[in-house]
Amino acid sequence: MTDSANETILKSINASLKSKKLYPPGHPAIATPVNKTFQCLSDSLKTRNNLMIGLVNEALVMEAEPVQDGDKLYPDVMSYMGEKNIGAIIFEKGMTVKELSNLMDILSGPPLQGSELQKELSSKGVTHITLKSIPKGKRNILEIYNGAVEIVRNVMGEVRMGKIPKSEPVNNIIEEITESVLSDPNAIIGLTMIKNYDNYLYNHSVNVSIMAIALCRHLKLEAGELHCVGVAALLHDIGKTGVSETIIRKPGGLSSEEWEKIKEHPLLGSNIIKRMNGMEELVGRLIYEHHIKFDRSGYPQINTAIHPLSQIITICDAYDALTTLRVYQQPHNPVEAVKVMTNFSGRHFSPDTLKAFISMIGVYPVGTMVRLSSNEIGVVVKLNPEAMDAPTIKVLYDGEGKALEAPFELDLSIGNDRTIAATVNPSATATDLGAFFEKEAAAV
Ligand SMILES: [Fe+2]
Repeated sequence: MTDSANETILKSINASLKSKKLYPPGHPAIATPVNKTFQCLSDSLKTRNNLMIGLVNEALVMEAEPVQDGDKLYPDVMSYMGEKNIGAIIFEKGMTVKELSNLMDILSGPPLQGSELQKELSSKGVTHITLKSIPKGKRNILEIYNGAVEIVRNVMGEVRMGKIPKSEPVNNIIEEITESVLSDPNAIIGLTMIKNYDNYLYNHSVNVSIMAIALCRHLKLEAGELHCVGVAALLHDIGKTGVSETIIRKPGGLSSEEWEKIKEHPLLGSNIIKRMNGMEELVGRLIYEHHIKFDRSGYPQINTAIHPLSQIITICDAYDALTTLRVYQQPHNPVEAVKVMTNFSGRHFSPDTLKAFISMIGVYPVGTMVRLSSNEIGVVVKLNPEAMDAPTIKVLYDGEGKALEAPFELDLSIGNDRTIAATVNPSATATDLGAFFEKEAAAV
């Protein structure tokens, strides 16, 4: 592509953004530069798959080449990108004029950032343009959690539209989750108490990947294996995109044909992984095996041994499902969930992997509501590896059951007279544990 073609593209994008500022929506003066931008971008995308405009250290670049006098010639492009912390705009082959026009609305619209921008693009049906945010140093765990939910939503959305999703965002988010788990597992495991009833699949996928990565760390697996388990856990149900929503959300029992359809999702999922660039073979295998139980019951049926790491996903999948409200089930508190799972040790679950899982999450896992010997009620927020039956609690209700105005942390492992008397069902109090951990994470 020639320099003058690049200049024409930048000039017309700048004119489009400027016209958005000057004229009301629907004014013909807006459509003209957008159409021109579409024309020159489409010409350029005839000979390439994508085209990138970036902002690097506050300087404009196009296809990795610095743009001379960018700030003078294309001030609107630079100011809108800067204001929204956008590091790159990537236009892909197949982009429509409607998508381009929606992008201009978003760029010149409210100052959204990061995952909010990506959400806005998806909600406006823009799938051939990507906005990459400039990393602002480390993200906090809530941003990472929400970013992961968004990535699962996008990946599944792309598969439903017949596209092959990119591996890069998935690999990146697994790296970020891994870093958080390594630095403070309690905090991010707390976020797995966020259970979204309406978008169960997305939050569930993120929760399973967090637990799976934490278990890999506990088992001291090497980095490559840990990464594959994390990715497979995040995408374990990606094959459900090939099963109709009506079957997936059906409240009652399934007919035998419907059940056969559901049973296809591990195979469908592993086939999707095979088509994605940069995915390890192991990821597909773990997804294929995530419903095969330790005694080889479950589905699909295989004649060979299951991969030892697939049990990590099976166990974390079961734990998150048991602790979540479903159409057919009240949520179990973490301690009850572990009890239920222990009953299936040696049958559904590998005794060794289950033992490691239980030793990782502790006697009172993070997120368990407990009543203390003082009658106060609180939530487990941190494990104390030296005293697993005496974790750190955030006390939320006093001995009379009154909500405290200023909840406080209490480390049961260091010299105090309170002990855990019992677990409490969160529905017995007005506490939304997901919201509680979100607030805790936001306060860090
Ligand atoms: Fe599944």
